[in-house]
Amino acid sequence: MSNKIMDGKAIAAAIKIEIAKEVAAMIDADVKAPHLAAILVGTNPASETYVVSKKKACQDVGMTSTTYRLEETVSEAELISTIKFLNEDPDIDGFIVQLPLPDHINTDKIIESIDPSKDVDGFHPQNIGRMQLGLPTYLPATPFGIAELLKRSNIDLDGKHCVVLGRSNIVGTPISILLSRKNKYGNATVTLCHSRSKDIGNFTRQADVLIAAIGQPDYVKADMVKPGAIVIDVGIHRIEDNTLEKGYRLTGDVDFKSVFPIVDKITPVPGGVGPMTIVSLLQNTLSAAKRLIYQ
Ligand code: GUN
Repeated sequence: MSNKIMDGKAIAAAIKIEIAKEVAAMIDADVKAPHLAAILVGTNPASETYVVSKKKACQDVGMTSTTYRLEETVSEAELISTIKFLNEDPDIDGFIVQLPLPDHINTDKIIESIDPSKDVDGFHPQNIGRMQLGLPTYLPATPFGIAELLKRSNIDLDGKHCVVLGRSNIVGTPISILLSRKNKYGNATVTLCHSRSKDIGNFTRQADVLIAAIGQPDYVKADMVKPGAIVIDVGIHRIEDNTLEKGYRLTGDVDFKSVFPIVDKITPVPGGVGPMTIVSLLQNTLSAAKRLIYQ
């Protein structure tokens, strides 16, 4: 593989070995295996894929996992009562509610009903607040994965200009906070661009590190990237392509083909940020089981 490629899959595999060792040590010491649960509402195909990947990742490291499947039509009250059940079940160390939720459910209300000590997605306002203040917390999985990917690729962000595209609650906003903080991942100067930003290329061309989490296929073109930049592609999109046997290709938020020649480093799609996100969830589940953040 080109040494320009940041191989998230390989780095995630190495972290999984570290986690598996810790899980094995817990079991050797007669402590139960960490237990992650996921609530999946409806049959969104992307959510199904994520939940299956998370379950498989748990198996790979010796953790227990349980999936709670609820109908698309489930009421908010029923979903909250499932969450309350998991909040109180001492066998569950951490759980996630897979997003997006159907439109009739208020996502903010759902996230607020999760016990912060079991919120291994790090989405609860208390955990987001703790991250903002630099207190120990569960970091949201994608930002955590990106930060680890940069760190383990020996990319020092100290004083670098990092431009983030997209201000979602699960990626753009938390990664911009994390990388600008005074912490082991941070010390960058961060610019956060979003749908109302004007002349986005003017910002992206100044980025030493460009993080694309805008949700639009092939959005970042070569003329938007500074030569020698580091590019992190958070997007993953299925594009119909009947010339391929499977009928589609996967692409990110970055037009990889045109951008690759001019960068110092870039993450591929698939095999970049995705595997790092999943391994970060395992890391948070291990922290939950070991009561490292909340006693
Ligand atoms: N949907 C897209 N990304 C995520 C994630 O990291 N966690 C959850 N729960 N849902 C998601």
